[in-house]
Amino acid sequence: MKRSHYCGALTKEDEGKNVLLQGWVNRRRDLGGLIFFDLRDREGMVQVVFDPEGSAFTTAEDVRSEFIVELSGTVRLRPEDQQNKKMATGTIEVVADSLTILSKAKTAPFLVDGSINADDVSEELRLKHRYLDLRRPEAASPLIIRHKVSKAIWDYLDQQGFMQVETPLLTLSTPEGARDFVVPARGQAGHFYALPQSPQLFKQMLMMSGFDRYFQIARCFRDEDLRADRQPDFTQLDMEMSFVEQDDVLGLNEGLMQHVVKASTGEDISIPFPRITYADAMGRYGSDKPDTRFELELTTISNIFANSEFRGFSGTLAEGGAVRALVLNTTQAESLSRKKIDKLEKHAKLYGAKAMAWLKRDGDTFTGSIIKFLADDEITELKNIATADGEMILIVADKFNKASEALGAVRLKLGQDLDLIDTSKKNFLWVVDFPLLEYDEDNDNYTYMHHPFTQPQASDIDKIESDPASVNAWAYDMVLNGNEIGGGSIRIHTLETQKRMFKALGFSEEEAQSRFGFFLDALEYGAPPHGGMAWGLDRLVMLLADKPSIRDVIAFPKNQRGIEPLTGAPGPLDASQLEELHIAVNEVEPETIDEVVADA
Ligand code: AMO
Repeated sequence: MKRSHYCGALTKEDEGKNVLLQGWVNRRRDLGGLIFFDLRDREGMVQVVFDPEGSAFTTAEDVRSEFIVELSGTVRLRPEDQQNKKMATGTIEVVADSLTILSKAKTAPFLVDGSINADDVSEELRLKHRYLDLRRPEAASPLIIRHKVSKAIWDYLDQQGFMQVETPLLTLSTPEGARDFVVPARGQAGHFYALPQSPQLFKQMLMMSGFDRYFQIARCFRDEDLRADRQPDFTQLDMEMSFVEQDDVLGLNEGLMQHVVKASTGEDISIPFPRITYADAMGRYGSDKPDTRFELELTTISNIFANSEFRGFSGTLAEGGAVRALVLNTTQAESLSRKKIDKLEKHAKLYGAKAMAWLKRDGDTFTGSIIKFLADDEITELKNIATADGEMILIVADKFNKASEALGAVRLKLGQDLDLIDTSKKNFLWVVDFPLLEYDEDNDNYTYMHHPFTQPQASDIDKIESDPASVNAWAYDMVLNGNEIGGGSIRIHTLETQKRMFKALGFSEEEAQSRFGFFLDALEYGAPPHGGMAWGLDRLVMLLADKPSIRDVIAFPKNQRGIEPLTGAPGPLDASQLEELHIAVNEVEPETIDEVVADA
């Protein structure tokens, strides 16, 4: 290695030193007979000067942006009036005495010299040339934070006695609730591996083996609708501990998070994190991942409408639903025109509401969309809800959770639109006491809320058959600023409870045996009490790097259609490969990458 320094690592202290640098030419300028360029590498940039008298000058004349060069020279202080305060190395420059072009480059399809923002170029074009995009320091920096996060995880967990173990990528379906990505098995016609949605069952079996404390920075695969915080292949910090209770897992993770945030961003966060029950989170924020950086909490006003003649309320209440409300103070309400209220209602509908009503306190009475349906005593009571003139009540009536989620979404939108969120905050919290099961209206059965291996709380376990909806689990999610960045649980560790759980989920014994027989077998040989969790590593890094999408923190991400613009994956197979894999494909015209790009 010939390089003596990284460009960005040079400082005033290096004045007078001879240095050998290698890197990318950021931008060349010819000024008053001199040639200047900024030389860029991973650590930053430094200005280089070529004197017409020097032997490197002629080569410098041939250099263009993004050429890769090697040069030697001497560091000197720039005169005071030529210092660049915006540049970390802006007080110095390197006077070059030799220059070699290592690689020429054609003109890039977009500027990578730091003069443009990501938004100035279509994301599709940047991802298609991601190797160029990552030359932009702004694009590369999240990956540097990501590296620091991984290293901090390794350091801390190793020190706490955790062992890293790798688990298979070609395996059987793992139940995390998404569709599987599958891989055909050439040797077994008609059989498929599934890529793991998480290492869940393997880590539990490692506890049965006695590993005691396991972790893995694990790739997971889920075929589900993509959003800014979801990728089909993503990374978890997965961990599991034996002989623990919920408090042990939460405590360990708080210490780890404190260490990780400090090591990657330098910031101190305080622990322990606040805890909120699932019921409270839904009740107060209309979300199981509440953003507590601003107040504006939901309230329930069902009792005001116990005898309501308004069908929208009485029908819902008769079916056991709730009338839920969000009360805006006068200043917040003032900024809402009728048009904006309509937009908010549309938003509520997008999140499941059938409608959203509104009422605005106007002196001794109200104006608003449902005023004509209100009885005098209801108006009197509503005055205790909107106590000051000009306050506004936004109302959704539905099943409790449905109404809450819709208003919770409105709450978040108002938080953003009215600038109520203190973006300097990092609000970590735990959501605890999740229900074990939730009722699935479409299929008229119960499904698991986390996964089928979650331990019911001891006091509730006997209601698993008689009143499944009321059983709470030892399950928890870690939330940062309204994002679910991790989740886990204490696990079932006896065969008997595991069988009861499968039964509550509507699995016949045969179904349970055929899907999870290997795991039920393992349980028969004994499992220690155990529990753990998994962090969404991409999501955490996205928040630490202050980026809007997890695509920004993944080196080669997929776009919103699950396509990797750089390679064009997924691609078709040729006929001989298909034959070897015993696969017949229904006739579809495969899209070319250009069509995909044009579409996007
Ligand atoms: P869960 O399904 O909650 O739990 O996943 C853990 C965390 O992974 C992140 N995550 C994702 N990130 C990006 N893209 C996706 N498609 C995606 N899906 C999930 C989230 C989530 O909180 N085996 C259990 C963990 C356990 O019980 O120990 C599990 O996978 O941040």
